[in-house]
Parts: sequence; structure tokens; C-alpha cells
Amino acid sequence: MTIQEEIRKLKAERDAVILAHYYVRPEVQDIADYIGDSYFLSRKAVDLPHRTIVFCGVSFMGESAKLLNPEKTVLMPDAQADCPMAHMVTKETVERARAQYEDLAVVCYINSTAEIKSWSDVSVTSANAVRIVSSLPNKNILFIPDRNLAHFVAEKVPGKHFIYNEGFCPIHEHMKAEEIRELKAQHPSAKVLVHPECSPGVLALADYVGSTSGIIEYAKNSADTMFIIGTESGVCHALRQARKDAAFFFPATEPVCDGMKRITLDKIIAVLRNGGNEVELDDRQTCAAAKETLTRMLTLAQ
Ligand code: 13P
Ligand code: SF4
Repeated sequence: MTIQEEIRKLKAERDAVILAHYYVRPEVQDIADYIGDSYFLSRKAVDLPHRTIVFCGVSFMGESAKLLNPEKTVLMPDAQADCPMAHMVTKETVERARAQYEDLAVVCYINSTAEIKSWSDVSVTSANAVRIVSSLPNKNILFIPDRNLAHFVAEKVPGKHFIYNEGFCPIHEHMKAEEIRELKAQHPSAKVLVHPECSPGVLALADYVGSTSGIIEYAKNSADTMFIIGTESGVCHALRQARKDAAFFFPATEPVCDGMKRITLDKIIAVLRNGGNEVELDDRQTCAAAKETLTRMLTLAQ
């Protein structure tokens, strides 16, 4: 039996579906039932009828799927696959802002733990943050944990007052504007497509800023044939499939997310066989509040 056949058989036995983020290894993307950005995957987790979700991504993604579908079993191929930014804000930061500003909305990036979501009013992803923040009635916005996405949204929604938090994605933050400038010098006609988790210096050089899906869609629909990509290198797999005729260039310090790369086919087979690494969230109050934060995102993003 091939690995693909074995996965198919195990999925059928468990009534399982495999969701994967664009940053996981190519061979994992190839066996997934659905691949997408974090917004698409959170919606899929709700819409799909399967009893079990195998989430090929980092822990906040599995946690969000479980919060939205407490009755489903969510399995993580690697329990240690985590996103460092998802922890980069303290409760004191939120409490301080709530005490200081009356007309405040606490907006948390989906790249955050369930506990952080429980302190927040609404969740967002990179694909819907601008739309959701624009639609909020509040004047003051505490945006957590990512300062780079916060600055990007603030620029797009000038009518509001933003309070920033010093969280960041180490992989996107590591990308330097100088590297993008060098690539641009080598390929002057290339379009620069970057993720909003990059620093403002990198964003300033971009022709397009958007989520992983947004970047792939842009390349898919573009008449250009050369692209400089400012996000994690896992997107290259989908980009190459979408545009066989195009060339994609990544910064020399290749952006690789260790958490995402922990997911392997062997680990997927293992959890499908033994049901291991099930996402379990026990604090009922935290879960209820975090679920509300995510549900508000799904409603406002429509
Ligand atoms: P997307 O929302 O674009 O999928 O990004 C998630 C992420 O973790 C980016 O680093
Ligand atoms: Fe988190 Fe960055 Fe990895 Fe995205 S790329 S999951 S933000 S560490």
C-alpha cells in the first residue's frame, strides 16, 4: 500500500479530513484535502461534516478549530508545532488598555492562544483584518499580538487610534528590506508580494501586501512572470503549481517556520492510527469567551 492509500484508508476509518496551511512541507500539502490560509482553514473547520479534523499547522490553528467545533475531534500531527508570536502579549497589556480607554476594541490576530482570544473582543486574520477593523464602531483599537500587522491595518484604517503591542513573527521580522532591494536590483521587473507580518521597511517596497492566499491569488492572476516573495517559503509549492511559467525569488535568509515544518507524513499517519495529540481545552469559561471572539470574526468577515 502506498502512503497515499494508507492515509485514505485511515481517514475513512476515522471519518477524518486533513486541513493544511500553505507553510507545511510540500508532501503534506499534496495529501491534504484542503490547503489554505488561516482564514480559509478556520471557515473550513466549521463547514465540513467530518467527525475528525487532522490539522497540519501550528497549535493556534488546531485550537481555533476545536474552539469553533467543540464536538469534533481535532488531532495535531505534532503537539510541539507552535507559533512563537501566538504567546507575545500579556494580560496586563490588555487590562491596562481597557482601564485607559473607554471606547476600546481589543482585536487579536488569530495567531494567538485561546487564552489571549478570551481577553479579546474580536479575532482577525491577515486576510480580513482591514475589513473587520474598519467595520468596528470603536475609536480605539488595541491590536495584539503582532505589531507589524497592526501598523499595516492602521495605515489602511486612518480614522482610528491604534494602541500597539510589541509582538512579532520571528520569521517575517527577520526578512530585511535590504534583501528585497537586492532581489529587486537583480530582477527589476519582478513584482514584490509580501505578507503583512513583515516589517514596515519591507512593506514599503511591496507591490502587493496580503495573506498567503492573497499572495498566491495575486500571482495566479497576474500577467507578470517574475515575483519576489516576502513570506515563508512553503508558499512556493502552491505558487509553482499555480504559475508553472513564472519565477519566484525568496530572500537569501530563506524564511522557514520551524513549527510548520515539524508536520510530516509519518506523524499524520501516526495520529490517524492512534488518535494521539488530540486538542483538549478544559477551561470552559476561557473557551466560551475565545469562541465568541472567533465567531465574531467569522460573522464580520462575511
Ligand atoms: P495567513 O493568515 O496568511 O495564512 O498567515 C498565517 C501565518 O501564520 C503567517 O505567518
Ligand atoms: Fe507563527 Fe511566523 Fe510561523 Fe506564521 S510563520 S506560524 S506567524 S512563527
